[in-house]
Amino acid sequence: MVDKVHVNLMNSSYDISIGFNILKNFFISTIFLNNTNSVIITNNTIKNVILKNKYYSINKNIKNIPIFSIPDGECYKNLKEVENIISFLLKKLYGRDVILIAIGGGVVGDITGFVASIYQRGVNFFQVPTTLLAQVDASIGGKTGVNHILGKNMIGSFWQPKGVLIDIEFLSTLPREHIISGMAEIIKYAIIFDHEFFIWLEKNCFKILQLQKDTLLYCIKKCCELKALVIEADEKESNLRLFLNLGHSFAHAIEAYIGYGKWLHGEAVSVGIVISAYLSVQLNMLHKDYFSRIKTIFYRIGLPIKGPKGMLPQDYLEFMLRDKKVLSGKIRLILPVSIGKVQLFSSIENTSILRFIKKFQEDKH
Ligand code: GLY
Repeated sequence: MVDKVHVNLMNSSYDISIGFNILKNFFISTIFLNNTNSVIITNNTIKNVILKNKYYSINKNIKNIPIFSIPDGECYKNLKEVENIISFLLKKLYGRDVILIAIGGGVVGDITGFVASIYQRGVNFFQVPTTLLAQVDASIGGKTGVNHILGKNMIGSFWQPKGVLIDIEFLSTLPREHIISGMAEIIKYAIIFDHEFFIWLEKNCFKILQLQKDTLLYCIKKCCELKALVIEADEKESNLRLFLNLGHSFAHAIEAYIGYGKWLHGEAVSVGIVISAYLSVQLNMLHKDYFSRIKTIFYRIGLPIKGPKGMLPQDYLEFMLRDKKVLSGKIRLILPVSIGKVQLFSSIENTSILRFIKKFQEDKH
């Protein structure tokens, strides 16, 4: 059975298909059987999983789809790999009718989407996310791009996929820490939009970690529905979509400071959300009981709630000043004001941010 969530956009609507073992039907669909111009972009780890997949290997047409794979890891989400993919496409004489199929986590999805947006001024692509984090967030909404040494996702574009196919079966191939990392983005949705969902997660988070089928399906679909609503209201991140960056100003600073791939994205997001909630308590915008529940849920499932050792408040600020939400040199932060509600703050002075981070680091909370 396939569940569908529709993303309704003016010129680029698409479906998110969600289910177990549905990759087969995707490849057998007419687009791919009759198309000689599809290329799978993946990473070396997933490539082995795909090649071992019995549906893939028994179908001659599917087997003939060329695969280009990049090394596995956030440190490869860079312009050099973009160029490698483009060189492959050019050498094989792919034209504007090429269809790129990104099979992998956030790195593969972001980089493939970016290539799709610039190759010969733009070609079609599909997202087949294989990590929990990519299934609930990164593959949906058309944010594509790569990292720069001075800042995460600093080079990129908005380019919507033609479809997103979430085969939940892939999650059984993931190391446990990647499932835990994906939970950070799931909890993020609950803190931003939905107190009831947060309570549900407090009760069910361990069932998700155990990959219990019904729980996973409910939770992934719920996140896709929330994200679809946001994208439909604000595709290019002028207002509502900004909220999805809860915790990300701090998280991106951590990832850039320690070196891409040293921490998983969800780990950095967990710390980022906890710092955001702490700041909000300091500003008298969030009750400390809510802060405590937010911190506890991340801690219980095994996510970090403190930043990397040795990272000073000034180190956070340095990277946060290059955040994409900065306007005219002013840091803008999304902070929780309840569980299920966030607000955009644009007038917190840099000196106050430094002081709150210092207090956070020193506090025995
Ligand atoms: N991951 C946040 C967004 O897609 O807007």
